[in-house]
Amino acid sequence: MSKTFYITTPIYYVNDVPHIGHAYTTLACDVMARYKRSRGFEVAFLTGTDEHGQKVETAAKANGETPLELADRVVKRFQALWEKLNCSHTDFIRTTQERHKHTVSEQFKTIIDKGDIYLGEYEDWYCTPCETFWTETQLIDGTCPDCGRETTKLKEESYFFKMSKYQDQLLKHIEDNPDFIQPKTRRNEILSFVKEGLRDLSISRTSFSWGIPVPGNEKHVLYVWFDALTNYISALGYPEDPEGKFEKFWPAIHVIGKDILRFHAVYWPTFLMAAGVPLPKRVVAHGWWTVEGQKMSKSLRNVVEPNMLVDKYGVDAIRYFLLREVPFGLDGDFSHNALVHRINSDLANDLGNLVSRSTAMLGKYFNGELPEAGSPTEADQALIDRFPAALQKVDELLEEMAFNKTLMAIWELISAGNKYIDDTAPWALAKDPEQKERLASVMYNLLESIRLIALLVAPFMPETAAKIIEILGGDSSNLNLEGQDQWGGLQPGTQIEKAKPLFPRIETE
Ligand code: ME8
Repeated sequence: MSKTFYITTPIYYVNDVPHIGHAYTTLACDVMARYKRSRGFEVAFLTGTDEHGQKVETAAKANGETPLELADRVVKRFQALWEKLNCSHTDFIRTTQERHKHTVSEQFKTIIDKGDIYLGEYEDWYCTPCETFWTETQLIDGTCPDCGRETTKLKEESYFFKMSKYQDQLLKHIEDNPDFIQPKTRRNEILSFVKEGLRDLSISRTSFSWGIPVPGNEKHVLYVWFDALTNYISALGYPEDPEGKFEKFWPAIHVIGKDILRFHAVYWPTFLMAAGVPLPKRVVAHGWWTVEGQKMSKSLRNVVEPNMLVDKYGVDAIRYFLLREVPFGLDGDFSHNALVHRINSDLANDLGNLVSRSTAMLGKYFNGELPEAGSPTEADQALIDRFPAALQKVDELLEEMAFNKTLMAIWELISAGNKYIDDTAPWALAKDPEQKERLASVMYNLLESIRLIALLVAPFMPETAAKIIEILGGDSSNLNLEGQDQWGGLQPGTQIEKAKPLFPRIETE
């Protein structure tokens, strides 16, 4: 059996245009998808758009278009951005697609047939921007406890899902599976939320019509979260599974922002329990980005547009920055200063210099032809031994999605490479013809280190990795670690060109 890996992003609302917050989630998934592929896994990586619901209906109305026209227009912006950011998703789902609507209807039928959905009446406070109902006691001064905006009292006929029935089973699942919800602090929040008691959940609306109709009662449309969450299995072809993708890939790892954890760690698992579907492997919630210390918002006009950043700094610099700057799970602040600092120090200075110095010296001392290494000295061996240890560490850290620590571990190798240059002082060796063999070893060890470093950074910076592998005379269409992660992959005799700067320094005012 082949190893498989399934990772998902949230599906983004089409009433907003993509910003760095969205890019962050998708890039984190992309790094995982690329890493797992590099390690020989068959990967399904899903992203998409959430196109139903009152918010979209309202936004479309305000623009004088139909909800589908709005969705068709905005979905292109997401798709273009993912392409620009080099995202390697294998599928893109839109909740307006037939395949999705079909699965949602089937899911509803399965659960109602089981007796876990009933028709009742709903009266509560509704926050339209959040698409969430709140009880009187949850409101803060009458406003939504999540976003602080006005709520309205709604009373309507509604289908209810018996979420309360699954409280104990869910609690047990979370307690028995310490990694089900990550990070730990978020897991604790969910545990106490569930312990406070789960209410049955209203899963249909009659107050608007832009949604998937309730099978057998078209006066109702399904609640947008019942609809949206199902995307993770509709994309696999559940329940019929004509291509065997569900069988092959489910369960998934869901990567989401902390704002939507409850939907993923409480609602979704209980829907799945009712439908008799295995639960997701993990739900991983990351923190939120502020911009120059402030919440990102349209009204503050401080929304950071990833397209603009990529045009200005390059795609790999942005990919690197977002995953290096803050520990996944914690909130972070985006600032242009911090970004420029990272580019100049980590990328231009550390990585860029290692590659340009090494290839320049190889050109100068060996006309660019990679020499053979002699038997390793103690210092050589110390450098060589770092690699198997680092590979192991990267594997463990990425398993935890500790992207920043992964990059730090890779950067320790880069620093070790730069220090190796300073310690061995190839320019001094070059002056002494008797040291030619020693110089050859130093050059081989440096360039071989760079090869392995390139493969390690590839999931984060695929373009840069490909450039480096090309400079080393390798095949940039294969950046896999599997089969290429042993020391000694570079063949002596290979012609290696002097590298142009990978990351030009950015002058700061
Ligand atoms: O919630 N910092 O979609 P959405 C970090 N359609 N991440 C941010 C962010 C920020 N400032 N702003 C947004 C929805 N995000 C639903 C999901 S899934 C079945 C349905 C990220 O477009 C964060 O991951 O409002 C958030 O969860 C995601 O964008 C979705 O945003």
